[in-house]
Amino acid sequence: MVQSISAPPVSGFVCDPHSAFYQAHLYEIYRTLRDEFPVYYSEMHDLRIVSRYADVRSILLDHDTFTVNGVAESKQLPPMLVYLDGERHTKLRNLISRGFTPRRIAAMEGRIRAITRKLLDDLAGESVVDLMHSFAAQLPSRVVAELIGIPEERREIFLECTEGMIETGPKEHQITEPAKLIFAEFDELLAQRRKERRDDLMSALIDAEIDGKRVTAEELMGFCFLLIIGGNDTTMNLIGNGIALLAWHPEQRAELVRDVSLIPGAVEEMLRVEAPTQALARRPTRDVELHGVTIPADSRVLINYGSANHDDRVFEDSDLFDIHRPEIRHLSLGQGSHYCMGSSLARMESRIAFEELLERYPEYQLESEPDWVTSRWARSHPELEVRLQPTSQ
Ligand code: HEM
Repeated sequence: MVQSISAPPVSGFVCDPHSAFYQAHLYEIYRTLRDEFPVYYSEMHDLRIVSRYADVRSILLDHDTFTVNGVAESKQLPPMLVYLDGERHTKLRNLISRGFTPRRIAAMEGRIRAITRKLLDDLAGESVVDLMHSFAAQLPSRVVAELIGIPEERREIFLECTEGMIETGPKEHQITEPAKLIFAEFDELLAQRRKERRDDLMSALIDAEIDGKRVTAEELMGFCFLLIIGGNDTTMNLIGNGIALLAWHPEQRAELVRDVSLIPGAVEEMLRVEAPTQALARRPTRDVELHGVTIPADSRVLINYGSANHDDRVFEDSDLFDIHRPEIRHLSLGQGSHYCMGSSLARMESRIAFEELLERYPEYQLESEPDWVTSRWARSHPELEVRLQPTSQ
């Protein structure tokens, strides 16, 4: 349960994002980082972690000094918006934002509700289910697949690959192997669309131009890849983490059941308390002094959104889940020039997910305490064993 936790002793403090201990004690570790080591250097991984809200926010807003260009993560992947700064980023982002206008997203509401209801229909008659796989993962992957134009029979493979990329560890093949499979799939699908256009984002992007020139094949691939990894796991984890949070706080869940207009605020608080994307990388373009520490140019810096969202300097009782929290200025969807392009879509999907889930199963219970996936960037339950109807007393 997310509760206020006092800081552990600091002596001998080691922060290893690749350890299972890290996820199990995440918010205690974050508190120590913010209070004692606001710029923490991990010798083991040769990276610096920035954890206070004000620092994270100002770094995100200063992409000249802290760029995404050339961060280590980008080297295994095709060129993508999240790893581009400067003019090309602005132009690609402007182009792609046409696919994400509020009108276009709002038009998807009916379809998203139909997918959600079908997923819940499929659970009818079951008593205990893994809601992570049968619901939280299925909804965003179907929505993004429809948006991009991935055929029904190929969707499961994308889901398996993206789930495989959440877990991080010392061995980087954990990311590269599933990534290679996704590239191969897109290669084939894009080749098909080049021959025959359809009414989907892949077809629209093939014909899109910047300064009179077509978007390059690599950029096209990078964008499809980004939508899959940026749109699937993140929304899956928002819904999954929210399901657990509401089970841990049945009194707040009952309020949502009584008044569905509270759901959007509850989704913001879920985003704040258990940020699906906990941390991403930046590369300093010059030496930077912060809290008396020098962050060297070209070093690896991890910007910790998840910790920023729990900073007591900004949020009162920051570890507490409270759907009535006024003004939730979380950083879970980023800030500045890379602010999440799928934010309206993710918010709509999760609002609908909770409206529909709570209407059918207002008193679901966790059958067992869920674990956390070991990951330096994601907050994710591997599974959520849920009893849909409460056991009669
Ligand atoms: C709860 C769900 C989501 C979370 C927590 C999330 C989080 C984020 C974050 C933190 C960034 C900023 C990255 C940075 O600063 O380096 C980002 C960027 C982005 N997100 Fe999301 N995202 C979510 C859902 C989605 C969805 C559904 C889509 C699309 C289908 C999407 C597409 C993108 C894209 C294209 C960018 C790159 C923008 C750029 O670099 O200019 N995201 N997201």
